[in-house]
Amino acid sequence: MSVTIKSPREIELMRESCRILGEVYEQLVTYVKPGMSTKDIDIEGERLIRSYGCVPNFLNYEGYPASICVSVNDEVVHGIPRKDHIIKEGDIVSLDAGLIYKGYHSDAARTVAVGKISPEAQKLIDVTRQAFFEGIKYAKAGNHLYDISNAIDDYVTPFGYGIVRDLVGHGIGTSLHEEPQIPNFRQKRKGILLQPGMTLAIEPMINMGTWEVCWDDDDWTVVTADGSLSAHYENTILITEGEPEILTLGTMK
Ligand code: MF3
Ligand code: CO
Repeated sequence: MSVTIKSPREIELMRESCRILGEVYEQLVTYVKPGMSTKDIDIEGERLIRSYGCVPNFLNYEGYPASICVSVNDEVVHGIPRKDHIIKEGDIVSLDAGLIYKGYHSDAARTVAVGKISPEAQKLIDVTRQAFFEGIKYAKAGNHLYDISNAIDDYVTPFGYGIVRDLVGHGIGTSLHEEPQIPNFRQKRKGILLQPGMTLAIEPMINMGTWEVCWDDDDWTVVTADGSLSAHYENTILITEGEPEILTLGTMK
């Protein structure tokens, strides 16, 4: 299937799906506390999503066994929640979650500091978040898709961080993953022309060390190859005639 342009009715449904996800996040990020397990976060995230009458879209996606991805420290993404994985003060925890509202998907990610963290870890979180905002400066009708990828790379690379290459952002709508794929690193081509009505999940994943990643024995959890910390920040956005609309922001930054 090719890149979809959402109708005004579909845009309303995407907005509502994403608005609810933004509200879920506002509650979930404050729930994260030292001493709880990554499974506790999954249970609360699923409860919140269902409390809005929505369905977690990650659950059973290609066999993924939970509703929320909870990735701690050197875990990049797709961390499977576990009762025996206890988070502690100083950890950084990447949450990735999405939901389905009336058939329309939303997707967003945040990296949360557990208690007091090192200044280096905070800088990684801040740069990863800012990378998203640098990228979407170019998310405008008439620009090309890889303008976004190149802007993210240009911003992140001077920090000496590694930009994950094995996983990318994506279109989103009646499926969690639609075309196009959206790399967070420099591209040689221009990519597709951006058009109003496209909904995209833009999600830089940034490592403090090498960009290279490995897969855990569970076949899901992605970890940095060198054991360095990793951060993730993602929102679902809408391309308009003017500035992009960030649909999953809630009232938080
Ligand atoms: N948020 C992830 C993404 O952007 C999806 C997680 S995959 C799942 O692609 F299996 F956990 F659902
Ligand atoms: Co995504």
